[in-house]
Amino acid sequence: MQTAGRATAVAPANIAFVKYWGVRDPVLTLPFNESVSMNLDRCLTTTTVAFDPRLDDDEVLLKLYGQDERPAEGRARERVVAQLDRLRGLAGVATRARVRSENNFPADAGIASSAAAFAALTAAAAAALGLELSERELSILARRSGSGSACRSIPAGFVHWRNDGTDAGSYALSVAPPEHWALADIVAVVDPGVKSVGSAENHRLVTSSAYWPARLQEVPGHVVAALEAIRERDLQRLGEVCERDAVSMHVVAMTARPPTFYWSAGTLAVIHALHRWRREGLAGYFTIDAGPNVHVICQAAQADELEARLRALPEVQWTILNHPGPGTRVVERPGS
Ligand code: DP6
Repeated sequence: MQTAGRATAVAPANIAFVKYWGVRDPVLTLPFNESVSMNLDRCLTTTTVAFDPRLDDDEVLLKLYGQDERPAEGRARERVVAQLDRLRGLAGVATRARVRSENNFPADAGIASSAAAFAALTAAAAAALGLELSERELSILARRSGSGSACRSIPAGFVHWRNDGTDAGSYALSVAPPEHWALADIVAVVDPGVKSVGSAENHRLVTSSAYWPARLQEVPGHVVAALEAIRERDLQRLGEVCERDAVSMHVVAMTARPPTFYWSAGTLAVIHALHRWRREGLAGYFTIDAGPNVHVICQAAQADELEARLRALPEVQWTILNHPGPGTRVVERPGS
């Protein structure tokens, strides 16, 4: 048994080009389909985990962007404690921990903060416990946190979440390092703070949509096309797949019972503007997660021009520019 200690990890958020939408096994967080993503270099969570035998219970402190540090409560706390329990179980210790987690990006920007949060928590807790885990094992553990997309924030750059339907065979791996392709993701925030139905609930509802079988059938083709487009640095191919896959995910959400409409008028305004600009030769493609804000995928060389145009749209409140980034890294280990 290792001596428990303290460690800090930094993890990126990621944007899915082909979405994880639908959970086959909610206990193990096994998805119905594979997905493909890119880590975001400027949207990071930093988490320190310190195991301390003097603690009677876990302490979980969150410092969200622009807010004061406060203790996590309710479901948010339970999920962190459950993930600590998984890691304690592996290490064979019962010691409680103090967890401090900080985001450098706003939680209401349409960037899945839970992916970065659970990737950082998993890596920091594993290092603090002295567990020697491979990247694949870390990815599997991050997936089991319940935020499945956290498994994609572990490896670097462009990432493929493989899934053969088993616990050991559902993990993410890097298909290309960040420097492989100078891409950009501009998040166009059209509706900050809009409360909507969380992914977790909709992951369980997918089979209630009449369009779910159609999505399930087309997604493997999207995965192959996205991986090829990344390999060949083919923006048009990647962009077309991103848009098709995002629309198909949202069709399932809109036709589930009960339905969820994540898009707002601002979402459609950005989509129409992108189509217009593409006809003028400025190539930006949209993808949209479980909210109204739009991620615009483009060549890094065209990001400034696109960002300026996006900011000039009355519906866009602000933007966040990202490039491909590294995966989760431990920046402080026990004894360091
Ligand atoms: C729409 O369950 O991984 O972002 O709801 O933030 O915990 P949280 O994320 P998760 O669902 C992700 C849904 C998605 C698509 C994707 O990232 O693949």
